[in-house]
Amino acid sequence: MIPSPLQDMLNGHFDGQAFFTPEWFSRNADRQVESPHGRLLLASCRSSDYFARQVVEQYQRFLDQAGSRAELLFLDEIDFKFSDGETCVRLDVDVSGNDVFVFQALQDPRSDRTVDENTIALLTAVRAMREWGANRVTAVVPYLAYARQEKPTKFKREPTTAKLLADLLISAGIDRVLTFDPHFDTIHGFYRHVPVNSITSLKIFEKVFEDFRQQEDLIVVAPDAGVSKLVTYFSRQLKLKSAVASKYRPQPEEAAIAEVIGDFEDKSRALLLDDMISTGGTIYALANKLVEEKGIESLCVGVSHNLCQQEALERMRDLHDRGILRRLIVTNSIPQSDAFLELPFIETVDLSEIFTHLINRIHYNRSLAELL
Ligand code: R5P
Repeated sequence: MIPSPLQDMLNGHFDGQAFFTPEWFSRNADRQVESPHGRLLLASCRSSDYFARQVVEQYQRFLDQAGSRAELLFLDEIDFKFSDGETCVRLDVDVSGNDVFVFQALQDPRSDRTVDENTIALLTAVRAMREWGANRVTAVVPYLAYARQEKPTKFKREPTTAKLLADLLISAGIDRVLTFDPHFDTIHGFYRHVPVNSITSLKIFEKVFEDFRQQEDLIVVAPDAGVSKLVTYFSRQLKLKSAVASKYRPQPEEAAIAEVIGDFEDKSRALLLDDMISTGGTIYALANKLVEEKGIESLCVGVSHNLCQQEALERMRDLHDRGILRRLIVTNSIPQSDAFLELPFIETVDLSEIFTHLINRIHYNRSLAELL
């Protein structure tokens, strides 16, 4: 190499810096035993801070209970906006070689950030992790938005935006997705080589509604064919009768029930299960149909995701005020608005513990099957 003033200046720049060798790692092994995917790092975009913090607290508690000295790295609120509205992410720490779990609530009724803004924040966060050397990046999205746009409908020339979101996340650099009850089971196919681990609502509903086991006057009703499989498994498990409604949409976001198929003899109470409440139109139309035509006097509703829309709030209140709706069970897959949390008949299931266990297992390459 030809000596030069520039080279002279650079020589010695790295004096005293560690050069990593297999021996270095074995000498330092007592400091931190890492998973094959690198050091665990949980990071959260602003809309998911509420949930990520709960997972961090639980994870830390489990580490403490197990007598571990492992430190949990957590980066919160990693996204922000420039004055022109563009999203940016800055990472305050080196993420290279880390096993990163990026949390985002794509739907956040507690802020004025839209689904699209939250989606861009997630994509940007994933790309930041990827470009700055993360070893593996898992997107943690308890509610996977856009999943309802998974096929063309009878309305005009709609794209399969659920597939577009999958393409964007893959292009941003995700290695894995961890989610809860996405709108359709076959969503895995959209993510091609990227594993999608989805927690089903079945086990959660089974626990929540255990008191209903074998109650003769109660029937479980699926609002449409999409949720009938869940209702079939659920009702068999709890030894209950079930029925299915045939729903149609006269207009986008408008729900009507044509028929409810099932045996309602001696049934006065119903449990409606669905993957989500958006406008509340589905639950409202079905509840009215059951009361008007099937002899149902009261009902409970269990949904995986409540989008907290004003219209739904009014519809649920109306059903409750008329003495029909007794309990509304939702989860915190979406940060619930104060208006919903204040309803005297709502109960929220916390998902942070199951996400904590799944992250722990993914980090250490352990099977998830018994938890999903
Ligand atoms: C539809 O296929 C879903 O399973 C839900 O039933 C639907 O998204 C609920 O929407 P809304 O509350 O607006 O009727």
